[in-house]
Amino acid sequence: MRIGVLTGGGDCPGLNAVIRAIVRKGCEAQEHEFVGFRYGWAGVLNNDTTPLDVSTTRGILHRGGTILGSSRTNVYKVDDGVNKVKAAMKAQGLDALIPIGGEDTLGVAGKLHEDGINVVGVPKTIDNDLAATDFTFGFQTAVQIATDAIDRLHTTAESHNRVIIVEVMGRHAGWIALYSGIAGGADVVLIPEKPFDVDVVCEHIRRRHASGPTFSIVVVAEGATRSDGDVITDHQTTDSFGHIRLGGIAVELEKEIEARTGFESRMTILGHVQRGGTPLAFDRVLGTRFGVEAINAASDGDFGKMVALRGTRIERVPLSEALAEPKLVDSEIYKTAEVFFG
Ligand code: F6P
Repeated sequence: MRIGVLTGGGDCPGLNAVIRAIVRKGCEAQEHEFVGFRYGWAGVLNNDTTPLDVSTTRGILHRGGTILGSSRTNVYKVDDGVNKVKAAMKAQGLDALIPIGGEDTLGVAGKLHEDGINVVGVPKTIDNDLAATDFTFGFQTAVQIATDAIDRLHTTAESHNRVIIVEVMGRHAGWIALYSGIAGGADVVLIPEKPFDVDVVCEHIRRRHASGPTFSIVVVAEGATRSDGDVITDHQTTDSFGHIRLGGIAVELEKEIEARTGFESRMTILGHVQRGGTPLAFDRVLGTRFGVEAINAASDGDFGKMVALRGTRIERVPLSEALAEPKLVDSEIYKTAEVFFG
């Protein structure tokens, strides 16, 4: 078979591990050939390719980002998009595509499958918000980066008797905030799934300071909302999938917490640091297992599927199941974080 591989959406630690695994297993054990599309669906629409074989995928396992480049391109927002995809596949002599991405990139893949194109999806996102898989690759690395940052911010919080508000990514899911908040010993964790009241947040902080400590750490997900309001963001722009750009809730929280409690407060927005650099071993292993199973599915002609982690096993699930709705935070885990609030 000849197969096209692409990486779409935000870059994510572990993408190169997936690409390497697909190509190594596909070339050496199954005698397939590959074409890499550059910059996600944009590369498919423009027939913009790069050679993908064992030699071009050597030495990339530990590297962050993606050797293919990425973009947030929606095939279904482009005139004649589906026919352009079909034309590129014809020009390259391809039998199938393996898109590696989150809900947007795989959402396009699911629709293309309905439009008669052979696809197998691989679930990627630091946000961990894709259903039908226990974890996406990239999430554990992002959580570790956020946890390391919280550990470092403790130093300043403690030395200066400050409240530090740490804003992490995750879009409309609170997974990164919850996991890094628990791992980093946060005193309050705010996530989109549990709209918050600033008075209650301040109450936790006051109670904690009344019992001895002179500093606090608040972890807030970028998509957290007030119980009486909407998403708070510094931006107005939306991407081609209609998602508003998030970021900036910590700026408002810093001011409000300081004004209401009288405790000196500072905020830190971690931003793209969370997606950068070398993947943790967990994400390299998960990415490698996903890549091998994706090429196995393509070899079997098992299209319209996404590879998924279920418990400790890698399975294939219908793309439609994975895309039906986002996977939001499990409230039981949030209850565990709450034990340590205030
Ligand atoms: O989906 C991954 C993610 O990092 C989100 O957590 C975040 O909201 C978004 O991408 C940021 O996107 P961009 O890189 O386009 O600013």
